[in-house]
Amino acid sequence: MHAFLNRRRLLALVSASAAILAAGLAASASAGNGHSGFRPGGASITSQPWGTAPGGQPVSLYTLTSGRGMTVTITNYGGIVQSIDVPDRNGQAANVALGFSSLAGYVADDTTTTASGETYFGAIIGRYANRIANGEFTLNGTTYTLPQNNGTNTLHGGPDSWNMQVWAATPISGRHSVSLQLTYTDPAGTNGFPGTVTAKVVYTLTQDDALQIDYTATTTAPTVINLTNHTYFNLAGEASGDVYNQELMINADSYTPINANLIPTGVIAPVAGTPFDFRTPKPIGQDINNADPSMVYAHGYDQNWVLNRSGPGLSLAATAYDPVSGRVLTTYTTEPGVQLYSGNFLVGDLVGTSGHTYRQSDGFTLETQHYPDSPNEPSFPSTVLNPGTPFNSTTIYQFSTADQFPTGP
Ligand code: GAL
Repeated sequence: MHAFLNRRRLLALVSASAAILAAGLAASASAGNGHSGFRPGGASITSQPWGTAPGGQPVSLYTLTSGRGMTVTITNYGGIVQSIDVPDRNGQAANVALGFSSLAGYVADDTTTTASGETYFGAIIGRYANRIANGEFTLNGTTYTLPQNNGTNTLHGGPDSWNMQVWAATPISGRHSVSLQLTYTDPAGTNGFPGTVTAKVVYTLTQDDALQIDYTATTTAPTVINLTNHTYFNLAGEASGDVYNQELMINADSYTPINANLIPTGVIAPVAGTPFDFRTPKPIGQDINNADPSMVYAHGYDQNWVLNRSGPGLSLAATAYDPVSGRVLTTYTTEPGVQLYSGNFLVGDLVGTSGHTYRQSDGFTLETQHYPDSPNEPSFPSTVLNPGTPFNSTTIYQFSTADQFPTGP
């Protein structure tokens, strides 16, 4: 019943999204760094200067509004989703995304060493999201060596990766949505990866409060690719405390257990009887202290779930619900996996958007992606990108409100 209702809702959503995107692309327009705005049927996008990146490039902050109460700010530094304001069940908006109040906060996160480590708050992660073991992989008989920036692993594309680049930005105005198109070209050899990759990421905010992310990438030579967005959500509001009482359902019967380096062992294991069983909604904190080895190694949730799907295309990944505010986040994706990370490394040394520090479990990510270390696990879905065959991926973060955990429309 639950699955059936969600499928009906999803089909309606997917066809609406396709129409929205078609309308948006037909009516595309571009703007520079000054103030600019569009108001198509309620949705709007404006921009303002937001400082200068370490390389000297000007950076902008774009404000997308749905016309129904939702506002998202995105900067073209790292393609970072800086804030997501969403109404609660009484219409009171709060920012449900962790982040920093200024560009300097993000630059410091990327360039200075703190006990919390690099958070990647809200950023586009590429060209390989998550970990590659021992900083190396072999493709078509050649072994590529990458810089190790996470113990012996290469994490989130390695140092100075896509989350730190200034992306070319084009606002797009549609009839029922607004979009921000971001493009970046990653030269061959950067961080040891072969092939020049040209990436396009389009953030679309729809009039029904969905934040859709469309990723496209092409390469000049065979390489590996894994793209995601690294927003930390707290449905009660950023800096409102931990998310332990927020409820989560993950549409996955299995997950990929990890070793002490947080690298998948290669086994696809059932979630049944483990803390990774979110098939029925439960509070995120319910099993957070479970002594399963994958929990101990990661200090909480920081694993990959193998999503249930009946074929290719968009399908339900997860639903999160905050019983206090009534906010609901439903995630759909074309990707085969999702990484739930409970902010385990946040230790209270970073001052967030509203001037409060962030501590462990003050937010959770739902990083839709291919499985970690896929380039070294032939049994996992392939992350190889070849010339002539573009990479395409879509994730939708749909916001709504409810009086109880939603089981259907
Ligand atoms: C996550 C990763 C965590 C941690 C975090 C950034 O995607 O799985 O282990 O590195 O990013 O602090």
